[in-house]
Amino acid sequence: MPGSAIDKDAVNVRQHFHKTAHQFDSIYSGKKSTVARALDRLLRWDMQKRLEMTIAGCQPAEGKRILDVGCGTGRFCLPLAQQGAAQVIGIDFAENMIAEAQRLSRAANLDRVCQFQCCDILDYQDDTKFDHVLAIGLFDYIKDGRNVLRKMRSLTNGAALMTFPRSNTWRAPLRRIRLGILGCPVYFYTEKRIRDHLVTAGFTVKRLEKVGELYFVEAL
Ligand SMILES: C[S@@+](CC[C@H](N)C(=O)[O-])C[C@H]1O[C@@H](n2cnc3c(N)ncnc32)[C@H](O)[C@@H]1O
Repeated sequence: MPGSAIDKDAVNVRQHFHKTAHQFDSIYSGKKSTVARALDRLLRWDMQKRLEMTIAGCQPAEGKRILDVGCGTGRFCLPLAQQGAAQVIGIDFAENMIAEAQRLSRAANLDRVCQFQCCDILDYQDDTKFDHVLAIGLFDYIKDGRNVLRKMRSLTNGAALMTFPRSNTWRAPLRRIRLGILGCPVYFYTEKRIRDHLVTAGFTVKRLEKVGELYFVEAL
């Protein structure tokens, strides 16, 4: 990647998630200590909620073609495949995230429906439009989301489901410090900035809801 400031940030994000893929997935698998699991339930309940809202937003999933951008370990792809989606493509630029997503989909016998690709969303090409495009927990790590939103818009005919981390919560600065120590940049959004970005990208906002530390958005 060329050495601009933006690219350096993206490289840091990619390295961070490459290194921490297992640890990230333990939020879903629960493979951590009892205390850590209790803390997740207390502080990260919105991650479970966003999963439920996203799956509900794709219903009926049967026969659909769905793209999950920044899919991580594929924890949104698997239930959609289980619910009868025709094809679920997950893309993520962190290699270990994709390796774990592939392992989990093989273990669940869903690898004929779920396909995972290691690439940057801005490099992804597909001639056929998707019924839904998801970006859950992605914009936290994108400095200027407009290009990504434009790309998402060009890839779907249906609803895009996405989350944005809220600025002005008491936990936002703590998260910035924690991830900063780990070398990973993180960005926060006001409702106005989200709406402006979505309109610029050609989306119409159907739903924008506060859920814990994040905004859950459905756009057409
Ligand atoms: C917090 S994780 C969320 C994973 C998954 N969506 C979930 O909610 O479980 C964010 C993911 O976005 C990926 N990511 C960030 N920027 C990306 C980009 N430009 N292209 C592809 N993946 C990206 C990261 O590698 C990381 O795995």
